Amino acid sequence: MVVNKEIENRVFELKELLEEYNYQYYVLDAPTVPDAEYDRLFHELKGIEEQCPILKKSDSPTQRVGAEPLKKFTSIIHKVPMLSLDNVFSFDDLNDFKNKIYDRLTKEGAGTEAEMKFSCEAKLDGLAVSLFYVDGKLVSAGTRGDGKVGEDITLNIKTVKSIPLSLRNNYPKEIEVRGEVFMPKKSFLKLNKEAENANEKTFANPRNAAAGSLRQLDSKVTAKRNLAFYCYGANIINGDAKFDTQTELLNYLKTLGFPLCSASKTVKGINAVEKYYQDILNKREKLEYEIDGVVIKVDDLEMQDVLGFVSRAPRWATAYKFPAQEEITLLNSVDFQVGRTGAITPVARLEPVFVGGVTVSNATLHNLDEIEKKDIKIGDTVIVRRAGDVIPEVVCSVLAKRGKHVKTIVFPKNCPSCDEPLYKEEGEAVIRCMAGLSCSAQLLESIKHFVSRKALNIDGLGSKLVEKLVEIGLIKTVADLYNLELESLANLDRMGDKSAQNIINALDASKRPSFARFIYALGIREVGESTAYSLASSFENLDKLISADYNSLIEIQDIGQIVAHHIQDFFATSSNILTINELLSLGIDIQYEEIDKSKQTLSGKTIVITGTLISHSRDELKQKLKALGAKVAGSVSKNTDYLIAGDKAGSKLAKALELGVEIILEESLDKLLA
Ligand code: IVH
Repeated sequence: MVVNKEIENRVFELKELLEEYNYQYYVLDAPTVPDAEYDRLFHELKGIEEQCPILKKSDSPTQRVGAEPLKKFTSIIHKVPMLSLDNVFSFDDLNDFKNKIYDRLTKEGAGTEAEMKFSCEAKLDGLAVSLFYVDGKLVSAGTRGDGKVGEDITLNIKTVKSIPLSLRNNYPKEIEVRGEVFMPKKSFLKLNKEAENANEKTFANPRNAAAGSLRQLDSKVTAKRNLAFYCYGANIINGDAKFDTQTELLNYLKTLGFPLCSASKTVKGINAVEKYYQDILNKREKLEYEIDGVVIKVDDLEMQDVLGFVSRAPRWATAYKFPAQEEITLLNSVDFQVGRTGAITPVARLEPVFVGGVTVSNATLHNLDEIEKKDIKIGDTVIVRRAGDVIPEVVCSVLAKRGKHVKTIVFPKNCPSCDEPLYKEEGEAVIRCMAGLSCSAQLLESIKHFVSRKALNIDGLGSKLVEKLVEIGLIKTVADLYNLELESLANLDRMGDKSAQNIINALDASKRPSFARFIYALGIREVGESTAYSLASSFENLDKLISADYNSLIEIQDIGQIVAHHIQDFFATSSNILTINELLSLGIDIQYEEIDKSKQTLSGKTIVITGTLISHSRDELKQKLKALGAKVAGSVSKNTDYLIAGDKAGSKLAKALELGVEIILEESLDKLLA
């Protein structure tokens, strides 16, 4: 192809368009074109560059695919040292941090307002990088290293799509931008799944995965890893740009084309900082990326200057760390628990350890495959993880600390509760007791499930009491609950007349469950709250559900082949039908809610949900929408009425915009649901 003005102009135009779309997607979080359009333009540019290599420049978006592998990394000297942060772990520590700042500013005669402003930022758990731009072009990038000298990872950094290769308007001659490269949780899970399938080594956490991906000599590998970036600071090396606060600096960096973490907030006073910390701690599990705390910075840059540094950390900033989610401890022994559906779970009995904000002495070891894969033995030092409300788990053993006297974990051959032989189904990791409700452990668990809050919500029937009632033979099926008499309850140890009467009242009050609650309470394998809800909205009554054929089950959203089989198996078991009939004859009156048309404000509307929502879980929102009569679909089409778009909405948002579908942002959700 001969290079002429027209082709040159087209290359220029394509680069500008692609950069603009990248900026809309990564920085503004608001794409205006679908991925397919981006891909078309990208391939057009790539095609021209292949035919006219002279037009291929290092800042072209096509250069993000990686380059020839390096033999080793060269060093990069940081123009301004990359420092670290001091940590605080409690509100008291945070208060000390603030008091020291106030004292120092007063001593220096700088003066403080009664309530100083702080820039509060999420502490992303990734790798700090320094990006150096000259005349608006990315010329080099480095890791932190020892703070003075890092590794040159320019080629790898160029593959990170949210890092601009060239800056937008009004950039200074030379600027060094700092931020964190990280791997979003979803990409981490996908990467590990792929590694597992290929029998390759998996990464322990997203941070290690990000580090392993960024410190690759072959940048083509980095390019495949879906790394992301948020910036949190900068140094103007040459040129002028004026800002008085950290907040203004961040906003300025956004105008240059750098993505900011949307969880940042500028607040006044230390109590507001504490509130920010608590809010983010509560949202932590819902965020798309891992954070290990928040970073608190004095917002005023002049004050930052006055405060200066001590050894390798600034006095004007601190990391307010979350309770560690991983700790090491000793694995003392292993017990085997029988679950409601007969699954045998190995439970680690640990030397008590404070992790994730609570003391943990039991943690799941999941199943035999996991124990073998992770090479865990009794007597090992192990890493325990407790994240949010998730059951604590043993992540792995610390082989370097393994002693001589460790013991292999031996799975029992027979059920620890009823002594029936255990089975492992083909292709399943779980080992099961198949004795069903004749196994007292399974009976116990199924009763606990039946009375639990999300099922029939029978107050006063706690685990201990249910255990007692099963032990003395007063209850043999869930139906027996409704045969309980005041007298026999009142005669139990430590049970007064009043408590016994309360339980009888709670049992009476539970006799009119909604259809969905009743289905959930039955404890069918893999039928959780949401699936129970889908079943209740798809079948007119219990008889129709019991006699449903396989095809009508798998037609329902959320129900796949396996769950359909579980449902059919459950209703094909005569003892289950017997218990259901008994429940009905003892007065259980299922409420098939007449659909109140006036409340079905979203009747006939098709809605798609995308991105991360902070105020609702996906399942909860789906249920609310369905209750209002809406159909919740998985992909955007011309039949979609609304797209509910949370944080980091991507291609679905672009498609919705293209098709003119109304977009509902999280802020306006309440109005839709009202
Ligand atoms: S400011 C002198 N801001 O935390 C200021 N750091 O423990 C130094 N980090 O090496 C950094 N999110 O990798 C800053 N919003 C944020 C951050 C952040 C994550 C990391 C960074 C740094 C480490 C210090």
